[in-house]
Amino acid sequence: MVKVWAHRGASGDAPENTLAAFRRAAELGADGVEFDVQLSRDGEIVVIHDETVDRTTNGCGQVVDLTWEELSRLDAAVGWDDFAPQPIPSLRQVLEALAATELDLNIELKDSVVPYPGLGDKVSRLIDEFDLGHRVTLSSFNHCSLARLRQSGSMLRTGVLFTDILYQPWAYAPQLWATALHPELHYVDYVLDLVQEAHLSHLEVNVWTVNQPAEIERMAARGVDAIITDHPGRARALLR
Ligand code: G3P
Ligand code: MG
Repeated sequence: MVKVWAHRGASGDAPENTLAAFRRAAELGADGVEFDVQLSRDGEIVVIHDETVDRTTNGCGQVVDLTWEELSRLDAAVGWDDFAPQPIPSLRQVLEALAATELDLNIELKDSVVPYPGLGDKVSRLIDEFDLGHRVTLSSFNHCSLARLRQSGSMLRTGVLFTDILYQPWAYAPQLWATALHPELHYVDYVLDLVQEAHLSHLEVNVWTVNQPAEIERMAARGVDAIITDHPGRARALLR
């Protein structure tokens, strides 16, 4: 059965990458949550998608230039009239909140624009502290950092994110010891033997961002392992 992972939490129903969005995902019956992590100026792992706080909060500036204290005072629910102000959470706060659930955690390292040296290792250590490795897949568009993580001895599952029409990614991903392919939706439509070939190579296929009903049904029919969607409630209802 295809799993439903809530993209940035249930970001169609609540402010993205906030604890409210993760709680909503659980309420809507998601199997897991996908969210994005970056580092503050003083090294806190923070859960936010963009390299700046401008789009999603009432602040401005680069995440890498702001301290955790400055970031934690911002409201990440701007534009959501039905929501009280929501803070940007740290990864520690998210793991504390979700430890007692059974949700899968797809943690995307946002280290392709700002390099954030050591982000993967820091995330990995925190996951170990909470003993949550069995529920985690780390993914990134920065494939060098995924490879380095495994070279450093991490046994965490890793997913190779991509948007381009790569040639035989199922032959490439094992070179970086990855356990999953995380293609954008259109790749799964373009390369019709993807799922079969990936599974033959013992790789999961977790596809994003699958929002429209026809897309949800089509991806499930293709046999992907998880769909990553802004609308986990819609997906759950369609796939029941
Ligand atoms: O991890 C899947 C997806 O989140 C990758 O793109 O930009 O939404 O983080 P983005
Ligand atoms: Mg993401």
